[in-house]
Amino acid sequence: MSAPKIKFDLQIKYGTEYGPEEERAVLEVLRQGAPTSGEACLQFERDLAAYCGVAHARAVSNGTAALFLSLVAVGLKRGDRILTSPITWIATAAAGVTLGAEVDFVDIDPVTYNLDPNRLEEKITPNTKAILPVHLYGQCCDMDPLLAVARRHGVAVIEDACHAIGAEYQGRKAGSFGVTGCFSFHEQKNISTLGEGGMVVTNDPAVFERVALYRSHCTRVYGRSTKYCALDEAKFPMGRRFWWQDFDDCGYNFRMTDVQGAVGVVQLRKLDALNQRRRDHAAYLSAGLRDVPGLTLPVVAPERTHVFHLYPVQIDSAEFGLTRDEFVHAMLHERGVKVGTHYTPLHCTTAFQRRGFKRGQFPVAESVAERLVTLPLNPRQSREALDYLIQSVRALRRR
Ligand SMILES: Cc1ncc(COP(=O)(O)O)c(C=O)c1O
Repeated sequence: MSAPKIKFDLQIKYGTEYGPEEERAVLEVLRQGAPTSGEACLQFERDLAAYCGVAHARAVSNGTAALFLSLVAVGLKRGDRILTSPITWIATAAAGVTLGAEVDFVDIDPVTYNLDPNRLEEKITPNTKAILPVHLYGQCCDMDPLLAVARRHGVAVIEDACHAIGAEYQGRKAGSFGVTGCFSFHEQKNISTLGEGGMVVTNDPAVFERVALYRSHCTRVYGRSTKYCALDEAKFPMGRRFWWQDFDDCGYNFRMTDVQGAVGVVQLRKLDALNQRRRDHAAYLSAGLRDVPGLTLPVVAPERTHVFHLYPVQIDSAEFGLTRDEFVHAMLHERGVKVGTHYTPLHCTTAFQRRGFKRGQFPVAESVAERLVTLPLNPRQSREALDYLIQSVRALRRR
Protein backbone atom coordinates (compact mmCIF):
# COMPACT_ATOMS: atom_id res chain seq x y z
CA MET A 1 0.00 0.00 0.00
CA SER A 2 1.32 3.45 -0.93
CA ALA A 3 2.29 6.00 1.72
CA PRO A 4 -0.28 8.59 0.52
CA LYS A 5 -3.10 6.00 0.71
CA ILE A 6 -2.06 5.03 4.25
CA LYS A 7 -1.98 8.69 5.22
CA PHE A 8 -5.40 9.33 3.67
CA ASP A 9 -6.79 6.45 5.74
CA LEU A 10 -5.35 8.07 8.82
CA GLN A 11 -7.18 11.36 8.43
CA ILE A 12 -10.13 11.65 10.77
CA LYS A 13 -12.20 13.65 8.31
CA TYR A 14 -14.40 10.96 6.79
CA GLY A 15 -16.26 8.59 9.09
CA THR A 16 -17.95 6.27 6.60
CA GLU A 17 -17.56 4.91 3.12
CA TYR A 18 -19.93 4.99 0.16
CA GLY A 19 -20.23 2.44 -2.63
CA PRO A 20 -22.27 1.65 -5.75
CA GLU A 21 -25.42 1.13 -3.64
CA GLU A 22 -25.35 4.77 -2.49
CA GLU A 23 -24.60 5.91 -6.06
CA ARG A 24 -27.66 4.03 -7.34
CA ALA A 25 -29.84 5.44 -4.55
CA VAL A 26 -28.75 9.01 -5.37
CA LEU A 27 -29.43 8.57 -9.09
CA GLU A 28 -32.86 7.09 -8.49
CA VAL A 29 -34.00 10.06 -6.39
CA LEU A 30 -32.35 12.47 -8.82
CA ARG A 31 -34.41 11.01 -11.66
CA GLN A 32 -37.55 11.57 -9.58
CA GLY A 33 -36.74 15.28 -9.32
CA ALA A 34 -34.76 15.14 -6.04
CA PRO A 35 -37.49 16.47 -3.75
CA THR A 36 -37.13 17.55 -0.15
CA SER A 37 -38.35 15.19 2.59
CA GLY A 38 -40.43 12.62 0.74
CA GLU A 39 -40.71 8.86 0.38
CA ALA A 40 -36.99 8.18 0.86
CA CYS A 41 -36.86 10.17 4.10
CA LEU A 42 -40.00 8.41 5.34
CA GLN A 43 -38.33 5.07 4.62
CA PHE A 44 -35.15 6.15 6.43
CA GLU A 45 -37.25 7.24 9.42
CA ARG A 46 -39.14 3.92 9.57
CA ASP A 47 -35.90 1.96 9.29
CA LEU A 48 -34.04 3.92 11.97
CA ALA A 49 -37.02 3.80 14.37
CA ALA A 50 -37.14 0.01 13.94
CA TYR A 51 -33.35 -0.27 14.33
CA CYS A 52 -33.42 1.70 17.60
CA GLY A 53 -36.56 -0.07 18.85
CA VAL A 54 -38.63 3.14 19.14
CA ALA A 55 -41.99 4.19 17.77
CA HIS A 56 -41.13 7.35 15.83
CA ALA A 57 -38.27 9.01 13.98
CA ARG A 58 -38.03 12.28 12.05
CA ALA A 59 -35.20 13.12 9.68
CA VAL A 60 -33.73 16.59 10.06
CA SER A 61 -30.97 18.66 8.53
CA ASN A 62 -28.28 17.93 11.15
CA GLY A 63 -27.64 16.81 14.70
CA THR A 64 -27.81 20.36 16.06
CA ALA A 65 -31.34 20.69 14.62
CA ALA A 66 -32.26 17.35 16.25
CA LEU A 67 -31.16 18.67 19.66
CA PHE A 68 -32.84 22.02 19.09
CA LEU A 69 -36.18 20.48 18.04
CA SER A 70 -36.07 18.06 20.98
CA LEU A 71 -35.72 20.99 23.38
CA VAL A 72 -38.55 22.84 21.64
CA ALA A 73 -40.68 19.69 21.85
CA VAL A 74 -40.21 19.35 25.63
CA GLY A 75 -41.26 22.99 26.01
CA LEU A 76 -37.90 24.58 26.89
CA LYS A 77 -38.33 28.30 27.40
CA ARG A 78 -36.25 31.34 28.27
CA GLY A 79 -34.79 31.07 31.78
CA ASP A 80 -35.05 27.27 32.01
CA ARG A 81 -31.85 25.36 32.76
CA ILE A 82 -30.30 22.45 30.97
CA LEU A 83 -27.48 20.20 32.17
CA THR A 84 -24.87 18.48 30.06
CA SER A 85 -21.26 17.35 30.02
CA PRO A 86 -18.45 19.90 29.58
CA ILE A 87 -16.68 17.44 27.25
CA THR A 88 -18.75 17.55 24.09
CA TRP A 89 -19.12 19.40 20.82
CA ILE A 90 -20.59 22.86 21.44
CA ALA A 91 -23.86 21.92 19.67
CA THR A 92 -25.08 19.98 22.73
CA ALA A 93 -25.05 23.11 24.88
CA ALA A 94 -25.62 25.71 22.15
CA ALA A 95 -28.99 24.26 21.11
CA GLY A 96 -30.40 25.25 24.50
CA VAL A 97 -28.54 28.57 24.72
CA THR A 98 -29.97 29.72 21.39
CA LEU A 99 -33.44 29.05 22.81
CA GLY A 100 -32.71 31.35 25.77
CA ALA A 101 -31.96 28.64 28.33
CA GLU A 102 -29.13 28.68 30.84
CA VAL A 103 -26.63 25.86 30.68
CA ASP A 104 -24.77 24.23 33.51
CA PHE A 105 -22.33 21.34 33.32
CA VAL A 106 -21.86 18.14 35.28
CA ASP A 107 -18.29 16.89 35.65
CA ILE A 108 -17.29 13.65 33.96
CA ASP A 109 -16.39 10.11 34.94
CA PRO A 110 -12.58 9.84 34.54
CA VAL A 111 -12.77 6.34 33.02
CA THR A 112 -15.54 6.59 30.39
CA TYR A 113 -15.31 10.41 29.97
CA ASN A 114 -19.12 10.57 30.08
CA LEU A 115 -21.19 12.77 32.39
CA ASP A 116 -20.90 11.31 35.91
CA PRO A 117 -24.42 10.44 37.12
CA ASN A 118 -23.20 10.59 40.75
CA ARG A 119 -22.65 14.33 40.36
CA LEU A 120 -25.97 15.00 38.64
CA GLU A 121 -28.47 15.38 41.46
CA GLU A 122 -26.60 18.19 43.22
CA LYS A 123 -26.87 20.24 40.00
CA ILE A 124 -30.65 20.02 39.64
CA THR A 125 -32.64 23.15 40.55
CA PRO A 126 -36.37 23.89 40.24
CA ASN A 127 -35.69 25.48 36.82
CA THR A 128 -33.91 22.45 35.38
CA LYS A 129 -35.90 21.32 32.38
CA ALA A 130 -33.65 18.83 30.62
CA ILE A 131 -30.52 16.74 30.98
CA LEU A 132 -28.54 16.05 27.82
CA PRO A 133 -26.25 13.06 28.33
CA VAL A 134 -23.71 12.65 25.53
CA HIS A 135 -22.68 9.12 24.58
CA LEU A 136 -19.15 10.31 24.03
CA TYR A 137 -16.86 8.70 21.45
CA GLY A 138 -19.48 5.97 20.85
CA GLN A 139 -19.97 4.64 24.37
CA CYS A 140 -23.29 5.00 26.22
CA CYS A 141 -23.54 6.91 29.47
CA ASP A 142 -24.49 4.99 32.59
CA MET A 143 -28.19 5.44 31.88
CA ASP A 144 -29.82 3.61 34.83
CA PRO A 145 -28.69 6.01 37.59
CA LEU A 146 -29.05 8.99 35.27
CA LEU A 147 -32.65 8.14 34.37
CA ALA A 148 -33.45 7.51 38.06
CA VAL A 149 -32.32 11.06 38.99
CA ALA A 150 -34.27 12.52 36.06
CA ARG A 151 -37.43 10.66 37.06
CA ARG A 152 -37.13 11.75 40.71
CA HIS A 153 -37.04 15.39 39.63
CA GLY A 154 -39.40 15.24 36.65
CA VAL A 155 -36.68 16.38 34.24
CA ALA A 156 -36.63 15.38 30.56
CA VAL A 157 -33.68 13.37 29.24
CA ILE A 158 -32.58 14.21 25.70
CA GLU A 159 -29.85 11.87 24.55
CA ASP A 160 -27.09 13.30 22.43
CA ALA A 161 -26.38 10.07 20.55
CA CYS A 162 -24.57 11.85 17.71
CA HIS A 163 -21.41 9.76 18.32
CA ALA A 164 -23.22 6.58 19.16
CA ILE A 165 -25.53 5.26 16.47
CA GLY A 166 -25.75 1.50 17.08
CA ALA A 167 -24.13 1.65 20.54
CA GLU A 168 -25.89 -0.30 23.29
CA TYR A 169 -26.45 -0.14 27.02
CA GLN A 170 -27.84 -3.30 28.64
CA GLY A 171 -28.75 -4.53 25.15
CA ARG A 172 -30.77 -1.43 24.23
CA LYS A 173 -29.77 1.02 21.55
CA ALA A 174 -28.45 4.51 22.24
CA GLY A 175 -31.23 7.01 21.60
CA SER A 176 -34.01 4.79 22.95
CA PHE A 177 -33.75 5.76 26.65
CA GLY A 178 -34.64 9.44 26.78
CA VAL A 179 -37.70 11.44 25.77
CA THR A 180 -35.78 11.79 22.52
CA GLY A 181 -32.53 10.54 21.06
CA CYS A 182 -30.60 12.75 18.64
CA PHE A 183 -28.34 11.55 15.83
CA SER A 184 -25.99 13.31 13.44
CA PHE A 185 -25.01 12.11 9.98
CA HIS A 186 -22.22 14.65 9.51
CA GLU A 187 -19.34 13.50 7.32
CA GLN A 188 -17.27 12.34 10.30
CA LYS A 189 -20.01 10.24 11.88
CA ASN A 190 -20.30 6.44 11.80
CA ILE A 191 -22.82 6.76 8.96
CA SER A 192 -23.43 9.87 6.89
CA THR A 193 -26.06 11.30 4.57
CA LEU A 194 -23.80 13.15 2.14
CA GLY A 195 -21.95 15.23 4.70
CA GLU A 196 -24.85 16.55 6.78
CA GLY A 197 -28.03 15.15 8.30
CA GLY A 198 -29.71 14.22 11.55
CA MET A 199 -32.60 12.36 13.16
CA VAL A 200 -34.79 12.63 16.24
CA VAL A 201 -36.19 9.38 17.63
CA THR A 202 -38.84 9.10 20.32
CA ASN A 203 -41.52 6.86 21.80
CA ASP A 204 -43.70 9.82 22.79
CA PRO A 205 -46.36 10.64 20.16
CA ALA A 206 -46.91 14.20 21.45
CA VAL A 207 -43.17 14.94 21.37
CA PHE A 208 -42.98 13.45 17.89
CA GLU A 209 -45.81 15.67 16.68
CA ARG A 210 -44.06 18.79 17.97
CA VAL A 211 -40.74 17.78 16.44
CA ALA A 212 -42.47 17.14 13.13
CA LEU A 213 -44.37 20.44 13.24
CA TYR A 214 -41.47 22.68 14.25
CA ARG A 215 -39.17 21.01 11.73
CA SER A 216 -41.25 22.50 8.96
CA HIS A 217 -42.64 25.88 10.05
CA CYS A 218 -45.48 24.35 12.09
CA THR A 219 -47.41 23.94 8.86
CA ARG A 220 -50.75 22.18 8.86
CA VAL A 221 -52.50 21.61 5.59
CA TYR A 222 -56.24 21.08 5.85
CA GLY A 223 -58.10 18.96 3.35
CA ARG A 224 -61.06 21.27 3.38
CA SER A 225 -61.32 24.32 5.56
CA THR A 226 -63.98 26.88 6.22
CA LYS A 227 -62.06 28.46 9.09
CA TYR A 228 -59.56 30.46 7.05
CA CYS A 229 -61.36 30.72 3.72
CA ALA A 230 -63.60 33.52 2.76
CA LEU A 231 -64.63 31.89 -0.50
CA ASP A 232 -68.24 30.90 -0.77
CA GLU A 233 -68.06 27.17 -1.41
CA ALA A 234 -71.47 27.22 -3.05
CA LYS A 235 -70.11 29.54 -5.74
CA PHE A 236 -66.70 27.81 -5.97
CA PRO A 237 -67.48 24.12 -5.53
CA MET A 238 -63.95 22.73 -5.28
CA GLY A 239 -64.97 20.00 -2.87
CA ARG A 240 -62.21 17.71 -1.62
CA ARG A 241 -59.63 19.27 -3.93
CA PHE A 242 -59.78 22.43 -1.92
CA TRP A 243 -57.06 22.91 0.70
CA TRP A 244 -55.94 25.64 3.02
CA GLN A 245 -52.86 26.16 5.10
CA ASP A 246 -52.40 27.24 8.68
CA PHE A 247 -49.39 27.64 10.98
CA ASP A 248 -49.68 26.65 14.65
CA ASP A 249 -46.65 28.73 15.61
CA CYS A 250 -43.45 30.12 14.12
CA GLY A 251 -41.12 27.21 13.46
CA TYR A 252 -38.07 26.39 11.36
CA ASN A 253 -36.97 24.69 8.19
CA PHE A 254 -34.84 21.78 9.43
CA ARG A 255 -35.88 19.29 6.73
CA MET A 256 -33.65 16.63 5.18
CA THR A 257 -33.63 16.17 1.40
CA ASP A 258 -34.76 12.92 -0.19
CA VAL A 259 -31.36 12.31 -1.80
CA GLN A 260 -29.90 12.32 1.70
CA GLY A 261 -32.74 10.12 2.98
CA ALA A 262 -32.11 7.56 0.21
CA VAL A 263 -28.40 7.45 1.11
CA GLY A 264 -29.38 7.09 4.78
CA VAL A 265 -31.46 4.00 3.99
CA VAL A 266 -28.43 2.34 2.37
CA GLN A 267 -25.98 3.49 5.04
CA LEU A 268 -28.19 2.17 7.83
CA ARG A 269 -28.12 -1.29 6.24
CA LYS A 270 -24.32 -1.17 6.45
CA LEU A 271 -24.15 0.29 9.96
CA ASP A 272 -23.61 -2.88 11.98
CA ALA A 273 -20.82 -4.04 9.68
CA LEU A 274 -19.19 -0.58 9.73
CA ASN A 275 -19.40 -0.46 13.54
CA GLN A 276 -17.95 -3.97 13.80
CA ARG A 277 -14.98 -2.86 11.71
CA ARG A 278 -14.50 0.12 14.04
CA ARG A 279 -14.53 -2.24 17.05
CA ASP A 280 -12.02 -4.55 15.33
CA HIS A 281 -9.74 -1.60 14.55
CA ALA A 282 -10.01 -0.34 18.13
CA ALA A 283 -9.07 -3.80 19.44
CA TYR A 284 -6.08 -3.91 17.06
CA LEU A 285 -4.90 -0.46 18.20
CA SER A 286 -5.31 -1.42 21.86
CA ALA A 287 -3.31 -4.63 21.34
CA GLY A 288 -0.57 -2.69 19.57
CA LEU A 289 -0.35 0.08 22.17
CA ARG A 290 -1.10 -1.82 25.39
CA ASP A 291 2.52 -1.97 26.60
CA VAL A 292 3.45 1.65 25.79
CA PRO A 293 4.14 3.43 29.09
CA GLY A 294 2.35 6.73 29.59
CA LEU A 295 -0.78 5.93 27.55
CA THR A 296 -4.27 5.36 28.97
CA LEU A 297 -6.28 3.46 26.37
CA PRO A 298 -10.09 3.46 26.09
CA VAL A 299 -12.06 1.29 28.51
CA VAL A 300 -15.36 -0.34 27.59
CA ALA A 301 -17.57 -0.21 30.68
CA PRO A 302 -19.74 -3.21 31.64
CA GLU A 303 -23.00 -3.77 29.76
CA ARG A 304 -21.97 -1.48 26.91
CA THR A 305 -21.39 -2.07 23.22
CA HIS A 306 -18.98 0.65 22.11
CA VAL A 307 -19.10 1.85 18.49
CA PHE A 308 -15.77 3.74 18.60
CA HIS A 309 -16.75 6.88 16.78
CA LEU A 310 -13.38 8.03 18.11
CA TYR A 311 -10.47 6.27 19.84
CA PRO A 312 -9.51 8.38 22.88
CA VAL A 313 -6.05 8.08 24.49
CA GLN A 314 -4.69 10.00 27.47
CA ILE A 315 -1.00 10.89 27.41
CA ASP A 316 0.93 11.18 30.65
CA SER A 317 3.72 13.52 29.59
CA ALA A 318 6.14 12.48 32.36
CA GLU A 319 5.90 8.82 31.34
CA PHE A 320 5.54 9.25 27.60
CA GLY A 321 8.06 12.03 27.14
CA LEU A 322 5.83 14.45 25.22
CA THR A 323 2.97 16.68 26.25
CA ARG A 324 -0.40 16.31 24.54
CA ASP A 325 0.31 19.29 22.28
CA GLU A 326 3.84 18.13 21.41
CA PHE A 327 2.40 14.73 20.52
CA VAL A 328 -0.26 16.23 18.21
CA HIS A 329 2.36 18.39 16.51
CA ALA A 330 4.89 15.56 16.05
CA MET A 331 2.26 13.15 14.73
CA LEU A 332 1.21 15.65 12.08
CA HIS A 333 4.56 17.07 11.04
CA GLU A 334 6.81 14.04 11.44
CA ARG A 335 4.41 11.18 10.71
CA GLY A 336 1.67 12.81 8.59
CA VAL A 337 -1.09 11.64 10.93
CA LYS A 338 -3.82 14.03 12.02
CA VAL A 339 -4.67 13.40 15.64
CA GLY A 340 -7.72 15.07 17.20
CA THR A 341 -8.21 16.82 20.54
CA HIS A 342 -11.91 16.26 21.14
CA TYR A 343 -12.75 18.44 23.10
CA THR A 344 -11.80 21.71 24.77
CA PRO A 345 -13.99 21.67 27.91
CA LEU A 346 -16.90 23.94 27.02
CA HIS A 347 -16.69 25.99 30.23
CA CYS A 348 -13.13 27.00 29.19
CA THR A 349 -14.22 28.31 25.78
CA THR A 350 -14.88 31.98 25.08
CA ALA A 351 -18.61 31.33 24.56
CA PHE A 352 -19.05 30.01 28.09
CA GLN A 353 -16.41 32.15 29.84
CA ARG A 354 -18.57 35.04 28.60
CA ARG A 355 -21.48 33.38 30.36
CA GLY A 356 -19.64 33.42 33.69
CA PHE A 357 -17.91 30.03 33.75
CA LYS A 358 -14.37 29.82 35.12
CA ARG A 359 -11.46 27.42 34.72
CA GLY A 360 -11.27 25.06 37.66
CA GLN A 361 -15.02 24.49 37.93
CA PHE A 362 -14.96 20.99 36.42
CA PRO A 363 -11.56 19.60 37.44
CA VAL A 364 -11.96 16.06 36.14
CA ALA A 365 -12.95 17.29 32.67
CA GLU A 366 -10.04 19.74 32.67
CA SER A 367 -7.38 17.26 33.72
CA VAL A 368 -8.60 14.66 31.20
CA ALA A 369 -8.83 17.20 28.37
CA GLU A 370 -5.25 18.40 28.95
CA ARG A 371 -4.00 14.89 28.24
CA LEU A 372 -6.51 13.55 25.75
CA VAL A 373 -6.03 12.92 22.05
CA THR A 374 -8.22 10.99 19.64
CA LEU A 375 -6.37 8.73 17.23
CA PRO A 376 -7.82 8.41 13.73
CA LEU A 377 -10.17 5.46 13.46
CA ASN A 378 -12.53 4.74 10.59
CA PRO A 379 -13.87 1.66 8.85
CA ARG A 380 -11.79 2.18 5.67
CA GLN A 381 -8.47 1.73 7.42
CA SER A 382 -6.24 -1.07 6.17
CA ARG A 383 -4.01 -3.21 8.39
CA GLU A 384 -1.04 -1.28 6.97
CA ALA A 385 -2.58 2.03 8.01
CA LEU A 386 -3.26 0.76 11.53
CA ASP A 387 0.29 -0.64 11.77
CA TYR A 388 1.70 2.69 10.60
CA LEU A 389 -0.38 4.45 13.26
CA ILE A 390 0.86 2.11 16.00
CA GLN A 391 4.49 2.45 14.85
CA SER A 392 4.13 6.24 14.75
CA VAL A 393 2.90 6.44 18.34
CA ARG A 394 5.59 4.05 19.53
CA ALA A 395 8.32 5.95 17.67
CA LEU A 396 7.47 9.17 19.51
CA ARG A 397 7.82 7.75 23.00
CA ARG A 398 10.96 9.03 24.74
CA ARG A 399 12.93 9.49 21.55
C1 LIG B 1 -21.57 15.18 20.43
C2 LIG B 1 -22.16 15.94 19.28
N1 LIG B 1 -23.38 16.50 19.42
C3 LIG B 1 -23.97 17.19 18.44
C4 LIG B 1 -23.35 17.36 17.22
C5 LIG B 1 -24.02 18.18 16.17
O1 LIG B 1 -24.23 17.48 15.01
P1 LIG B 1 -24.24 18.25 13.59
O2 LIG B 1 -22.84 18.60 13.26
O3 LIG B 1 -24.83 17.23 12.66
O4 LIG B 1 -25.10 19.44 13.74
C6 LIG B 1 -22.09 16.80 17.02
C7 LIG B 1 -21.42 16.99 15.73
O5 LIG B 1 -20.26 16.86 15.54
C8 LIG B 1 -21.47 16.09 18.07
O6 LIG B 1 -20.24 15.56 17.93
